Amino acid sequence: MGARTAFLAIAGVLTIGWSISVVRAQDKTVWDGVYTEAQATRGEALWGDTCAKCHGADLTGGDAPGLIGSEFGGNWDDLTLGDLADRVRISMPQDNPQSLTREQVADLLALILRRNRLPAGATDLPSQAEALRTIKYKANKPS
Ligand code: HEC
Repeated sequence: MGARTAFLAIAGVLTIGWSISVVRAQDKTVWDGVYTEAQATRGEALWGDTCAKCHGADLTGGDAPGLIGSEFGGNWDDLTLGDLADRVRISMPQDNPQSLTREQVADLLALILRRNRLPAGATDLPSQAEALRTIKYKANKPS
């Protein structure tokens, strides 16, 4: 095969590989087991100390809105976990904002996912913003 054919073949393979990874990145949702039970349990301990007084021990709300159920789902549907992490990292806890590490925010997101009855998986939710931006919040299970 000539150099030009070889080049086209390689370019073709690269293009296909790239498309598959882009589709996968877009397709990943909170229904794909994106956190672990252990991580959600870490988040739960932190929740009791830093979030429960306003959002309620069971996340159903109090002085602040609840973080479970259809209203929360409606607010975040189609946004990414990167958006949700930014929201928490920048403005929460409201009485002491920007006091949490990225790992702590990821643990809290894991708890929020668990309480919204989303399935756990084998890998912790990442703490890096770029990785969280590839996971979409979907209030309803995609068919
Ligand atoms: C001092 C009270 C207070 C504390 C503590 C607090 N929050 Fe909030 N939070 C609020 C209020 C009030 C709102 C709604 C108004 C606003 O957006 O600022 C809110 C909004 C939110 C939202 C957006 C809800 C939505 O439906 O879009 C999230 C997510 C959130 N808080 C997470 C947390 C987490 C996680 C913690 C613990 C680290 C925390 N909050 C601690 C008062 C608090």
